[in-house]
Amino acid sequence: MDKLKVMTIFGTRPEAIKMAPLVKELERRPEIDSLCCVTAQHRQMLDSVLDIFKLKPQFDLDIMEASQTLSTITSKCLLGLEKVFHEVRPDLVLVHGDTSTTFAGALAAFYQQIAVGHVEAGLRTWDRYSPFPEEMNRSMVGRLAELHFCPTPANRRNLEAEGVTEGVFVTGNTVIDALQTTVAEEFRFGEDVLNRLDYRNKKVVLVTCHRRENYGQPMEDIMSALAQIARTHPDVELVYPVHLSPVVQKCAHRHLDGMENVRLIAPLDVEEMHNLMARSYLVLTDSGGLQEEAPALGKPVLVLRRETERPEAVEAGTAKLAGVDYGRIVQLADQLLDDPAAYAQMAHAANPYGDGRACPRIADGILYHFGRRPRPPEPFLS
Ligand code: UD1
Ligand code: UDP
Repeated sequence: MDKLKVMTIFGTRPEAIKMAPLVKELERRPEIDSLCCVTAQHRQMLDSVLDIFKLKPQFDLDIMEASQTLSTITSKCLLGLEKVFHEVRPDLVLVHGDTSTTFAGALAAFYQQIAVGHVEAGLRTWDRYSPFPEEMNRSMVGRLAELHFCPTPANRRNLEAEGVTEGVFVTGNTVIDALQTTVAEEFRFGEDVLNRLDYRNKKVVLVTCHRRENYGQPMEDIMSALAQIARTHPDVELVYPVHLSPVVQKCAHRHLDGMENVRLIAPLDVEEMHNLMARSYLVLTDSGGLQEEAPALGKPVLVLRRETERPEAVEAGTAKLAGVDYGRIVQLADQLLDDPAAYAQMAHAANPYGDGRACPRIADGILYHFGRRPRPPEPFLS
């Protein structure tokens, strides 16, 4: 029998981190011919992940521009992928999550009548403008895809509510697979300031923030709250690897430059990020990936958003929805920094997002769908 040609398509940092272990798994399967295409919607932040996981994509569309808009990203991906599909015709295209690359990848494959598999399927806030444009991206990919790899049972229920019941597998999130390869007891950071931090006697607060729906006043308020938290807690070291988006860079530096216990640093590579998180006291973030990683490492998370499509950690008691309001962010952070009982209540490990075996389940699900396995994989039960 011919090998199945499976092409993974991704473009941004989080997609790369979550697709890398899957590409490796597909490469290990003798029945699969694995191909990888990057759009490079992110350039430096993508390349950093490709380096760490030693991935060499066969196709690179290199689309990133300094001030890219949703339309430029989407149109460049569509045109570039059309050419790729004229060169090779995969049996299945895999896209991940909810970015513009994800949506354009699924749409470009659909235009060529190539089957689409959606990894990290079924996350929903049910608010079309938040997160923006991710909620609509992933909903539309849910319509385009034939295969849906849901991280959790709740994600599958979301698809059911939209009438999607065929080709659905509950696998866990591949980020937990990635996490198992990166965290080490002994670790030296490339950024020396991180080697010199006093992780024992200081409370290291790890921050990230980048979402488009937070641009403007919400991001201003978040940054003011961070400044206030650092000012009022000399025992805190606030470490913030700032996303390369010019909007985020300007806002973060305007509010936080020059503060003694705030480290604004360049984006970390993924090994550094996971190891820093493992050594932190608390995580403040609007990132999807960090919301999944921190519970697995036993770190409380304050989510800097009004809603989340990842309610599992909130339900497990390790994350709280802080919102984007200055007063509430400061109040919740104060509580976790000043009240050991409140901290202890949240600082326990939970694994609602996966057991580290999502990639083998996805590969098995693909082989089952194409008639190369008699049974579907056992689902992940969170
Ligand atoms: C994108 C995704 C978002 C995801 C985020 C992960 C969309 C619409 N948004 O948002 O879902 O959560 O990635 O980080 O798909 N830049 C660089 N170098 C890089 C990366 C970005 O310089 O390696 C700068 C560029 O100026 C670029 C800007 O950041 O124009 C914004 O990048 P873009 O991909 O458009 O948006 P993100 O906010 O990163
Ligand atoms: N990350 C990283 N370096 C950083 C910030 C984040 O490696 O400086 C990783 C993080 O551990 C997670 C992923 O990038 O795996 C999340 O990406 P991001 O927050 O950009 O996007 P989101 O998950 O919100 O889509």
